[in-house]
Order: sequence, then C-alpha cells, then structure tokens
Amino acid sequence: MIDARRDSPSFHRNIGPITAKLHAILTNRQARVIEIGSGSGQHVARFSSEFPDMSFQPTEYDETALKSIDAWTQGAQNVRPALHLDVTSETWLSDTSQRFDILLCFNVIHISPWIVTTSIFDRAGEYMNEECQLLFYGAFKINGQHTSESNAEFDTWLKDKDPGFGIRDIADISKAAAQNGFKLGKSHTMPANNFIQEFVRA
Ligand SMILES: C[S@@+](CC[C@H](N)C(=O)[O-])C[C@H]1O[C@@H](n2cnc3c(N)ncnc32)[C@H](O)[C@@H]1O
Repeated sequence: MIDARRDSPSFHRNIGPITAKLHAILTNRQARVIEIGSGSGQHVARFSSEFPDMSFQPTEYDETALKSIDAWTQGAQNVRPALHLDVTSETWLSDTSQRFDILLCFNVIHISPWIVTTSIFDRAGEYMNEECQLLFYGAFKINGQHTSESNAEFDTWLKDKDPGFGIRDIADISKAAAQNGFKLGKSHTMPANNFIQEFVRA
C-alpha cells in the first residue's frame, strides 16, 4: 500500500520546543482547535496526542496534501478528517455553526500572499469563540527589522520565489488584526529566530 504521509524536515527540528511552549500557553485543555495550512499533518498529529482532551480540525489549501494529513492522524479519536480550506474564500466551512477556541497557523503567512494574512483576520471572527487564541508560528519582523541575518536572507529567498511572499512585520499583522476586532497578545521567542505570536479578541 502507498504511504501517503509526507515528511517536513523542519518539523523534526522545531517540534520539541513548539510542543513545550504550547503546554505552557494553552490553558483550555478541552479546546476546539482549527489549524490553517496543516501541510504534511505532522503538527496536528503530534498535538492530538500531546493534548488528548482537545479536538482538532486540520485544514489545507493544497488538496494533494489532505491524504497526508489524514494518514498521519489515522486512529486519533480527537482529529477530524482534513478539510480543504483556502482562507481567502468567502466561507471557510460548510458547517458555519462551528466554533473554535484556538486557531493554529504555522509557517503560512510568510510563504503566501499578504491577502492570506488579512483574510485570516477577516474571517476568523465568524468561527472563533469569544475567549480565543490565534497562534502564528514562524519568522517575523519587528518594527521593520529582521530579527536575524538568516531571516533577512530567508526573506530575500521568499521574495525571489514570489514577490508577494515575505516575512511579515508584527505591526502590519496587528493592523490587519485590529481592523477585525483582534489585538496582539503575548509574543513567545522560539529557537531558530522564530516566534509564536498570539492574537486575541480586542
Ligand atoms: C510551508 S507550508 C506550512 C505547512 C505546515 N503548517 C508546517 O508548518 O509544516 C505553507 C502552508 O501555507 C498554506 N497556504 C498557502 N496559501 C493558503 C491559503 N490561501 N489558504 C490556506 N492556506 C494556505 C499552504 O497550503 C501550506 O500548507
């Protein structure tokens, strides 16, 4: 049988510190979680075993990755089948009555057009409960500055790939958040010049 599971090399480098940080910052252990851009599905698979009382809805823009996500999460009682989701679409989920407590968006907003970032804040309000956390993991700029030389090089590489891609500035993300009733929450420094940025309802 063909193994649909894809492997992301960066997952193995970063998952230890990410999981440790999530244990520290996720206080609602029964949370309903939606993940944007689940990619291979390795993150959601690990989180579902780390947080057995939470329930997870993985989503992915690239329809060819859905099988990988479902393969990694096979047998996990607290993970739903992955759904196709382009965050720029008008309606995210066919069941519009669904509400979540946590939104995870890891390594997405720098490697997609800016409209992906603004769309997340435009639409998330409809699907998130009042006491919610939106967590963005990856590289960010702070006050227009890269936080490391390697991030500056990464930014150049992203823009060469697509001029619409690029490491986002926390201030710009915060403006997009504020336009939709969200505000910057805690900022968590992570290894390899990454951060987890929290956003909450304003
Ligand atoms: C580098 S991958 C990150 C995958 C995974 N989160 C991880 O950390 O390994 C970038 C992700 O951005 C997602 N993405 C790009 N455009 C998107 C869109 N319009 N809506 C939702 N996700 C999008 C891709 O589908 C892809 O999963």
